[in-house]
Amino acid sequence: MTAPTRLPETALDVVVTARTRSSDAVDLFDLAAPDGTPLPRWEAGAHVDVALPDGDVRQYSLCGDPVEGTWRIGVLREPDGRGGSAWLHDHLAVGSTVRVAGPRNHFEFEPRRGTSYVLVAGGVGVTPISAMARAAAHAGVEYVVHYAGRSRASMALLDELAELHGDRLHVHAADEGARLDLDALFAGMPPFTTTYCCGPERMIDAVEAAGAGRQVVVERFEPKAVGEPVRHESFEVELALTGGTVTVPSDRSVLDVVEEAGVLVLSSCREGTCGTCETTVLEGEVDHRDSILTPDEQAAGDRMFICVSRAACPRLVLDL
Ligand code: FES
Repeated sequence: MTAPTRLPETALDVVVTARTRSSDAVDLFDLAAPDGTPLPRWEAGAHVDVALPDGDVRQYSLCGDPVEGTWRIGVLREPDGRGGSAWLHDHLAVGSTVRVAGPRNHFEFEPRRGTSYVLVAGGVGVTPISAMARAAAHAGVEYVVHYAGRSRASMALLDELAELHGDRLHVHAADEGARLDLDALFAGMPPFTTTYCCGPERMIDAVEAAGAGRQVVVERFEPKAVGEPVRHESFEVELALTGGTVTVPSDRSVLDVVEEAGVLVLSSCREGTCGTCETTVLEGEVDHRDSILTPDEQAAGDRMFICVSRAACPRLVLDL
């Protein structure tokens, strides 16, 4: 039996219209509305939430053409994962229906003339990067793509990237000894360059270290290491919409406590990477512990991810 999902009421059923093998472990699934009506538009960097039969939800970046609005996801089969990618690989065929929500975008890419872009992808992190490269090409801005992987056979979307981006694409296949030299990459970068990176944690950490002081925007699939919380004491959270106040002890998350109080909050990863539990902050100072917001966005203090972020003051007022 299919369990209820944690997707919002705006979630919709879509049908798989094509399934393509893109690398030795990544398949591409094209999705469309069952009646052929256009699906919501999306921008490069966006992802969709896909419901699994056990009610769990997984996020997949859209890697079709953002200008045409094609919905395509690339799914890496992860034998040691939590089972979501294996279920999609084993059960989704052309004609299958799957429930999805979104698109949502926490990795926004808005190409601007006068800025050049370095797009760095590692492994299946190529999915949002491929959409960014298409958007950059459409916008007519300067860009290059650096794509790293174990081997060409393991690298999804490689043919498409080569065809669309020609010599702007630089392939770094480890088994060919063509490793990505990040220090050289940043040293040779002209001013007014913004780097976008999506890939494994160690790649993102290396890009952030090599690009310190430069404009670098990353998307993480795994939570980054965060230090001790600002406060070790409990704090209060006032729920402005539903009324009432809850106390969040030091060993529990805001999400756990508000759910226990009967407030419906959408969530998925519960580790500060997917963005599903984003909540508007009306008052109070936040101890941001997510892996999504940039330092500037964190400093704005107007939203938080309540599965991991906490209060840096005795009382928060949230739009819940
Ligand atoms: S549930 Fe994923 S960021 Fe909170």
